[in-house]
Amino acid sequence: MPRILTGITPSGTLHIGNYFGAMRPAIELQAGGDAFYFIADYHSMTVITDPQERRDYTRGIALDWLACGLDPQKAVFWRQSDIPEVCELTWMLGSLTPMGLLERAHSYKDKLAKGIAPNFGLFSYPVLMAADILLFDTHVVPVGKDQKQHLEMTRDIAIKFNHTYGETFVIPEERISESVAVIPGLDGQKMSKSYGNTIEIFGDEKALRKKIMGIVMDSRTPTEPKPDADKNLAIQLLKFFAPKDLAADFENRLRAGGLGYGDLKKALFEHYWNHFAPYRAKRAELVANSDYVDQVLRDGAARARAVAEKTLARARKNCGLR
Ligand code: TYM
Repeated sequence: MPRILTGITPSGTLHIGNYFGAMRPAIELQAGGDAFYFIADYHSMTVITDPQERRDYTRGIALDWLACGLDPQKAVFWRQSDIPEVCELTWMLGSLTPMGLLERAHSYKDKLAKGIAPNFGLFSYPVLMAADILLFDTHVVPVGKDQKQHLEMTRDIAIKFNHTYGETFVIPEERISESVAVIPGLDGQKMSKSYGNTIEIFGDEKALRKKIMGIVMDSRTPTEPKPDADKNLAIQLLKFFAPKDLAADFENRLRAGGLGYGDLKKALFEHYWNHFAPYRAKRAELVANSDYVDQVLRDGAARARAVAEKTLARARKNCGLR
C-alpha cells in the first residue's frame, strides 16, 4: 500500500487554495492508502515569531483538518514538533545538500525579492521538508503546484544520500492534480497566506461576503457580451463549488451578456458558503471538544514517532553514526 504524506504550515488561516490543492486530495486518499498528515509547526518558525500566534494557528489547522474530513481512524495526524527526529534527519540531509540547489529554490528567491531578510531557516527550509517526507518512507505527496520544486529537491537529496550511504530512503513522487494545482486568489494571482488575497475556509460570514463581493471586475455593462467569460475570476472560482452544469450555465450567461457581475459574485458567495456548511458545523463541535483534538494529536504523534524512529535508526546506521 503506498504511503501518502502531506503537511500544512501554521503560518496563517487556511484558505480554499490549501483546501482544494492539498487537503481535499489528501482526505480522498486516506481511505485507500497508508495516510500520514501533519501540521508543520517547525516550518512556521521561518515566518512567525509570536509563540501564541503559532499555538493558535496550529490549533486552528488541527480543527480545520478534522472538520473537513480527516479521519484519525484512517490517517495518522500529528504536530511536526512532536517528532524531533525530523531535526536530526535535517542535519544529515543538509550535510549532503549543495548550496546551489537551495539557492535555486523559488520560494527562497520570492521571499528575497519581497525584501524579507534571509535567515538560515528560510534558506534550509527545503531540507527540513525533505526530512519530513523521507523520515516516513513516503511514496506519494499530494500538494499544490507551488510545492513541486520542493519535491524535486527532496528526490535529489534522497538519491544523493542513497548513493553516498547505500539504500536508505524511498524516493517519493508528488501528486498534483491539474484542475486544482493553482487556485487563484481574490486578485487573480495564486491564492496565498502571504499575499493577502485569500478566501478562508472558515471565518466570519459578513467579512467573507464582503471579500467576495469586493472582487474587482472590469467596467463592461451587464448586457455586453463577454467572449472571455471563462477567464473571469468569479466563474473560475464558482466551478470549484457549483455543480458542473450550473457553473456552465453562469459562464454561458456571462458570455452572451445579461448577467451582471454583482449577481455572479452573489452566486459565488452562496455556493462557497453552502459548500462548507457541514464542515462549519463539525468544526463547532470540535471546538467544544478540545480534549478529543488533543488526544487525536497525541495518538498520532505516538504512531508517527514509531515509524520515524525506525527510519532514523536506519539512516544513522548507514552513515556510520552510533
Ligand atoms: P503551505 O502551508 O504553504 O500550503 C499547504 C498546501 O496547500 C497548497 N496550496 C495551494 N494549492 C493550490 N492553489 C493554491 N493557491 C495553494 N496555496 C497553497 C500547497 O501547495 C500545499 O500543498 N512547505 C509546505 C508544508 C510542508 C509539506 C511538507 C508539504 C512541510 N513539509 C512535506 C508536503 C510534504 C507549505 O508551506 O505548504
